[in-house]
Amino acid sequence: MPTITEQLAAGHSDALVFFGAAGDLAFKKIFPALAAMARRGHLTMPVIGVARRPWSIDQFKAHARESLAAQGPVDDKAFGALAAQLRYVRGDYADQATFDALRQALGGAKRPAYYLAIPPDEFGPVVEKLERSGCTQGARVIVEKPFGHDRASAQALNRILLSAFDEAGIFRIDHYLGKTAVQNMVFFRFANTFLEPLWNRRFVDSVQITMAETIGVQGRGSFYDETGTLRDVVQNHLFQVLANLAMEPPARTDSESLRDEKVKVLKSIPALKPEDVVRGQFRGYLDEKGVAKDSATETYVALRLEIDSWRWQGVPFYIRAGKCLAVGATEVLVRLRCPPKIFPAQRIAPNFVRFRIGPDVAIGLGTTVMDPAETTEGRQTELLSTHRTEAGEMDAYERLLGDAMAGDPSLFAREDQVEEAWRIVDPVVAAAPPVQVYEPGNWGVPTPPHVTPPGGWRDPVAAHSNH
Ligand code: BG6
Repeated sequence: MPTITEQLAAGHSDALVFFGAAGDLAFKKIFPALAAMARRGHLTMPVIGVARRPWSIDQFKAHARESLAAQGPVDDKAFGALAAQLRYVRGDYADQATFDALRQALGGAKRPAYYLAIPPDEFGPVVEKLERSGCTQGARVIVEKPFGHDRASAQALNRILLSAFDEAGIFRIDHYLGKTAVQNMVFFRFANTFLEPLWNRRFVDSVQITMAETIGVQGRGSFYDETGTLRDVVQNHLFQVLANLAMEPPARTDSESLRDEKVKVLKSIPALKPEDVVRGQFRGYLDEKGVAKDSATETYVALRLEIDSWRWQGVPFYIRAGKCLAVGATEVLVRLRCPPKIFPAQRIAPNFVRFRIGPDVAIGLGTTVMDPAETTEGRQTELLSTHRTEAGEMDAYERLLGDAMAGDPSLFAREDQVEEAWRIVDPVVAAAPPVQVYEPGNWGVPTPPHVTPPGGWRDPVAAHSNH
């Protein structure tokens, strides 16, 4: 591991500040990611939490420990290394004194990274005060999704961030980009000779992406009610998955060449039409804390879109996502066209490529083999490559935080990408097609034929307990 001086010379951040240190995201994701970095010996810089809670530094450290304990047995050595770097600044984000105290706490840091794990309406005031207290020189900023709530608000948010930071210093997090399985989609596509010749409109019949969650809104009612499924996971996570699936090989492997290809996919997608989108809401959602009694926010969405490019024109893409569904799993299914038959009565199921993204990771190839009992008949068999998560493998947040601090933007959403994604969903957000109620524990609401993949939706199965 390079020393802090070597890291700084290479453009590495020399302090991490996270706003929202007492919040849900910090508790669930940030402390565990920091502890994992500490375990690897990567946490060589001070980590300053900022929040409104009147905590002492010891109470803040105890809170960090609670977060780790909530995930499993605490590694004392890693916790010790994390705790040694932790500092705490208590204060209101509306108060300039908080930022002056932060400036003090930063000491001689030359390239701090600010992680805004706070609601987007607080970004503006925080960025403005950071700048006023002289904290933004040479700094980076890391922001959570959803980035804005439509195209216009995303542009406004960009203007705020760009008033204090360079685009190269802005890191828009989409944790799906940090998932190994999502990165592997691109790797697998371009590392296998047999796949690429088939990966186009001549051979692909349709594509479906399912992100099913068994959980509900889990105490995030007021956030979710403002957001809905389309903005919570489709505009960002699932469009990133779609871009990895559909992009052209990049001319070079630098961050901009990669992101250019992803933006091109989004540019080729016409804006969604409200009639191609189905929205549902699970029964009981209206009783959730923070949800309006007459809310028409969707907790399930299914849609059809097209990628109007040379490679994909005419191939329908279907996406569905929802809360309180029958199974918790994210999967992509690329269905190929059927070959002609040689035996008149032969049944041939279409070949497919299946990417299982979570909670377990797998890639499956659906093939038809001869049925030994009936030699003119076929039987579908899936060739499967599974990936067991190794102990010590980086999780998405650890990877992304490390990349942001190292100044590598490859796995972050670029401004034009975010804006293109909003352009696609904005008309549906504005039109808000009706929501239909569905029972928790099933597969959401039925889709009409034009929003249903040929051959139907393939429901992902639950993960085996040994994954
Ligand atoms: C988050 C959404 O971005 O992703 C949540 O806000 C969702 O609503 C979560 O539950 C799903 O992430 P993962 O990694 O569990 O698939």
